[in-house]
Amino acid sequence: MLSKDPETLRWLIFLFSGAAALALLLLVHKLWPNLLRKPGFRAFDLVITAVVFLFIGMHATNLWHEREEVVVNSFHRLYHDTWWGPTVRNTYWFGTPLLKCPLDLWVYQEILHETKPDVIVETGTWQGGSAGFFASLFDLMGHGRVVTIDIKSFDPPERDRVTYLLGSSTSDEIIRQVKESVHDDKVMVVLDSDHSKEHVLNELRLYSEMVTVGCYLVVEDMHLNGNPVQFGDGDPAAAVKEFLASNSNFEPDRSREKFGVSWNRGGWLKRVR
Ligand SMILES: C[S@@+](CC[C@H](N)C(=O)[O-])C[C@H]1O[C@@H](n2cnc3c(N)ncnc32)[C@H](O)[C@@H]1O
Repeated sequence: MLSKDPETLRWLIFLFSGAAALALLLLVHKLWPNLLRKPGFRAFDLVITAVVFLFIGMHATNLWHEREEVVVNSFHRLYHDTWWGPTVRNTYWFGTPLLKCPLDLWVYQEILHETKPDVIVETGTWQGGSAGFFASLFDLMGHGRVVTIDIKSFDPPERDRVTYLLGSSTSDEIIRQVKESVHDDKVMVVLDSDHSKEHVLNELRLYSEMVTVGCYLVVEDMHLNGNPVQFGDGDPAAAVKEFLASNSNFEPDRSREKFGVSWNRGGWLKRVR
């Protein structure tokens, strides 16, 4: 059986296409030996040559894109699979651990600078590292605050710009408190709590209406369920797919995946209306 490695398959397709184009040229030459030699058929010669180069060019491009995807996915998996090693569980914002990809943190910085929300509502506080990161950016901007929710307390550090709420992100009581807190502020939302499809879908329905037009609703950890990471049984991507099928107010902003690796592929949702 041939290799299932997509890169090897691409190479084989590329070689096969090149060989097929050459065979076609030889066949034309064999069937009509004088065709290519006749002065009147120079244009035909050119067409054939162009087709051959088109084939080669097309597959070389294809190959390049495929190679890029393979490299990005391999690095993504390597980074995530070394969870307990030098990467995920070894990432800190001023001493507080956080479960975010540093490339995504940079994207958050750019989004905050561009959209300037008054408040970020975050579900899934954990140890408070991501809330602290957002608060630090707000410090630099001189404006903004964070409301973060967790079902358990991990004793996150006290911070001026951060309000910690304890309870399930989808409970009536928490939704009431969040709505009361954000009032008519400019709101951005980050969903990073329980990553099961059902919970994320619930959160999407409850929190999407709070997001201000022009701001973002970020669904974290879209990379689970083989996208390209296999970890736990969460599936935020399935929730986003279902949510977007019935909500045209949000569009995935794929430009936010510009660094190649993003844990939120397809999850940088921008409120457009
Ligand atoms: C992935 S961690 C959050 C990581 C954090 N945002 C960061 O970047 O460092 C997920 C957190 O969600 C919390 N959680 C799980 N189910 C929840 C729920 N129903 N409501 C609120 N938080 C929940 C967990 O206790 C856990 O602390």
